[in-house]
Amino acid sequence: MRVLISEDQIQARIRELGRQIDADYPEGPICLIAILKGACFFLADLARAVTRPARIDFMCTSSYGQGRTSSGEVKLTKDLDVSIEGADVVIVEDIVDSGVTLNYLIHLLRQRKPRTLCVAALLDKPARRIQPVELRYVGFQIPDEFVVGYGLDCAEQYRNLRDICVLHSYHEAPSFATKER
Ligand code: IMP
Ligand code: MG
Repeated sequence: MRVLISEDQIQARIRELGRQIDADYPEGPICLIAILKGACFFLADLARAVTRPARIDFMCTSSYGQGRTSSGEVKLTKDLDVSIEGADVVIVEDIVDSGVTLNYLIHLLRQRKPRTLCVAALLDKPARRIQPVELRYVGFQIPDEFVVGYGLDCAEQYRNLRDICVLHSYHEAPSFATKER
């Protein structure tokens, strides 16, 4: 495993995003909606980087199954607790890959008539996009590599790593993994 983005880099970037969001919503309050489970750490840090009054809520989707490849279809497994009608909503996502999940969620949430709706994604992997999606706030653009840590998992492992790391394929020779460490 190799560190791609360190804890310090993540935290510094989130402070910048918080300042940007504060500037963009001078009236407050805003509603931050995190997509579980991956975005829970990002939400916790972003919500505290923002100084405007903020509500938080959660949605949960599944599309990736147990492994690394998308099934291509999104299922909503947990909906919001409260209405977002008339609210300034920011969807908080860990990583945008194909764009399928976010397109599904944006479409769903628009029907509920928020005043504004935008996306804050910690990571953007543009090389893998199948469906275009507008990202208002992006932490980092990353190359086409599978990453774990800071909420991101591989089969539910590694979410509690403090850094974002590249996970090498299980099939790689152990000597290669040792060299990279
Ligand atoms: P999308 O619908 O293909 O954009 O996938 C978005 C979701 O896929 C993210 O919220 C993650 O849960 C998962 N995902 C995509 N790429 C990665 C990765 O590199 N590591 C871990 N999870 C990923
Ligand atoms: Mg996710």
